[in-house]
Amino acid sequence: MTMLWDASWNVGIDVIDAQHKRIVEYINALETAITHQQHAVIGQVLAQLTDYTESHFAFEESLQQEVGYEYAIPHQATHKTFVARIKKYQTRHDAGEDIASQLHTMLSTWLVHHISRDDAAYVKAVHESMRHVLSNTKEDGWLKRSLKRFFG
Ligand SMILES: [Fe+2]
Repeated sequence: MTMLWDASWNVGIDVIDAQHKRIVEYINALETAITHQQHAVIGQVLAQLTDYTESHFAFEESLQQEVGYEYAIPHQATHKTFVARIKKYQTRHDAGEDIASQLHTMLSTWLVHHISRDDAAYVKAVHESMRHVLSNTKEDGWLKRSLKRFFG
């Protein structure tokens, strides 16, 4: 089923919400490819989704570090586990296994859970300092530098 962005998934930090929405778009693109049984496209979308998600995680982890989030290390560990899981699916897909619908369920469930529990928790904990860091939109500020660094 196509994932429609639910307002309750907003963490209230625009740049983070926009990146999460983009991941949802990739999950929906994956679903379209699954529906049309396009094996090659599934592989491509999965690779793009993994790549984008890794950039997003790196951005988020760096932001947490910047504001001194207390649970940055455990949060990072959940990201690592997730990326390892997607990569396993990619390997199985490349080997010709039909993992598509199983993968889609895992992705949508994990993402919603992670956004509404783990991401909401860190945003709540460091909201003020995060707003402060992100409101600096100068070229040499953290935001501009990090968007360039992680998303190119
Ligand atoms: Fe996260």
